[in-house]
Amino acid sequence: MGIAGKLKLVKLPNTAIARRSILVYPPEPPMEVLFGDPTNSIYIGRTKIFNVPFYWSFENVANPHIAVVGISGSGKSYFIKTFLLRSAFVWNSNALIIDWAGEYKDWVKQSGGKVISLGKGSYLNLLDLGGMKPYDRIKQVMRTMELLTDISNYPEQRRLTEQAIEKIYIESKFRMDVREQKDELGKPLTPPTLKDVVRVLTDQAQVGSYDFPAELENAIYRLKQFTKSGEDFFAQQSTVKLEELITSGLVDLDLSGLPDETARALAALTILQFIKEKMRLEGWSNVKGLKLLIVLDEAWKIGKDDNSDAVMIVREGRKYNFAMIIASQNPTDISEAIFSNVGTTFMLKVKFEKFLDYLQGSLNFSNYMRDEISRLGVGQCAVNLALTLSTPYPSTFLISKIEGEEPSKEYFLDLSEVLTEKQRRDVAVSRSVSFLKEDFRRKLRQFGLGDDKIEDLTKTFDKGNRRMDVVSFVITLERYGIVRRNIGDFLKDAGVDDITIINIFGKVDLKKSGGVGREISQVVLEE
Ligand SMILES: Nc1ncnc2c1ncn2[C@@H]1O[C@H](COP(=O)(O)OP(=O)(O)OP(=O)(O)O)[C@@H](O)[C@H]1O
Ligand SMILES: [Mg+2]
Repeated sequence: MGIAGKLKLVKLPNTAIARRSILVYPPEPPMEVLFGDPTNSIYIGRTKIFNVPFYWSFENVANPHIAVVGISGSGKSYFIKTFLLRSAFVWNSNALIIDWAGEYKDWVKQSGGKVISLGKGSYLNLLDLGGMKPYDRIKQVMRTMELLTDISNYPEQRRLTEQAIEKIYIESKFRMDVREQKDELGKPLTPPTLKDVVRVLTDQAQVGSYDFPAELENAIYRLKQFTKSGEDFFAQQSTVKLEELITSGLVDLDLSGLPDETARALAALTILQFIKEKMRLEGWSNVKGLKLLIVLDEAWKIGKDDNSDAVMIVREGRKYNFAMIIASQNPTDISEAIFSNVGTTFMLKVKFEKFLDYLQGSLNFSNYMRDEISRLGVGQCAVNLALTLSTPYPSTFLISKIEGEEPSKEYFLDLSEVLTEKQRRDVAVSRSVSFLKEDFRRKLRQFGLGDDKIEDLTKTFDKGNRRMDVVSFVITLERYGIVRRNIGDFLKDAGVDDITIINIFGKVDLKKSGGVGREISQVVLEE
């Protein structure tokens, strides 16, 4: 007996209902935010809950800069590529990819862009002014050295180095507080290089009047890291033209040929500094959209430190006419100052609790959202918008799938041989599936296939007008030693349904056993 377990209805005042936030706050931002003017925004995909198309625009957010995080294979680079292609289409934006590992090279070439490889005959003079006064540039160079070398631990060496740089600008007839440097005839002056700085310090050491010769020696030693022949990428007159990097459509600045992370970071920071200055001088020219997109993918060395230009650009927000896209597998490699200041964060699948903690701490989303982020599939994401207007709407919401650009270079697998009778009669069932050539090659590499075999298979497709029938394709892969599970996954990713995959393997077995290839092995699913 008793009343335990009985359901009891109580009357709740409206205010108590209102506190149950799910009834009151819609779980996604309103249409005005999600659905911008399509001629002034970038389509991303549909929202998960209301299935509303989401068009990214920077009108409603704090600034145009974007962070992208997610585990390896979650779809960061895919998103970035889609984004760049669409902005080129919508806004005619230029894009500069600061390509740490050279992973965008092929794609950029395929998309008709330009690849510039530093370290392979291309140079970037660290002492170029990039439109700055020598005094300002010297400060910047010293700050960069503090980020990338141990110089801040040695104030005396720091002072000596700074002085020597100043001296060499003056010797080269530069006026320290002027932006445009011209000689008496009005011709632009040639900037000094780090080699000249080393010379100034070496001369000073030879005179021998300086009280701390060891400090001088160490300052020289540090600089010589950058001036050794064969590694003097930053100590020769620039061959890379800034103007060309940022106004030539899609450009890949390939840093993979540089010897180490320090050199890559030095290149990336220097380029960012020059671009920032240029944009600052030109001002917000009030063009529609974005003039330039700069991509930093896995550039952890320059996204971590609060004194890095990458962080400063994001902090200073909107005043530059460009957007930075910073991507990483490891969110903690991106400074908290970036997360709390970028206008938009795209979160693809994130697994590690400590990374989720970090994101949730910076962006303040619910535990429900956290859970969803940890379970996202490839190309699915959560978006956080730093909205400029305070609204009762949640600023983090889910996108069912980032919908990619139609690939420019596709390969097709012909399925007509393996479709069931029923599928064949259905006009909605496609006779082939397609995938991007570069993704295809990447997958094969992941399966452990050697370059020669990948080349062979690529050629087979090209010869067949980028087509191959799926059964011969599978037989070839099996011959190369790729296991069925991998082949199955590959086909599935390409959009082949399970039943068709079973049929394909059936056909393959039949062919291999010398069978005639009739419909015997087909699985037919009745409704
Ligand atoms: N939205 C999507 N739609 C369809 N395919 C996708 C999508 N996102 C990613 N892919 C596919 O998934 C694979 C991995 O994606 P991607 O290279 O973008 O991962 P990533 O996050 O950049 O990984 P890494 O950190 O290793 O560079 C690619 O083959 C890509 O084509
Ligand atoms: Mg990637």
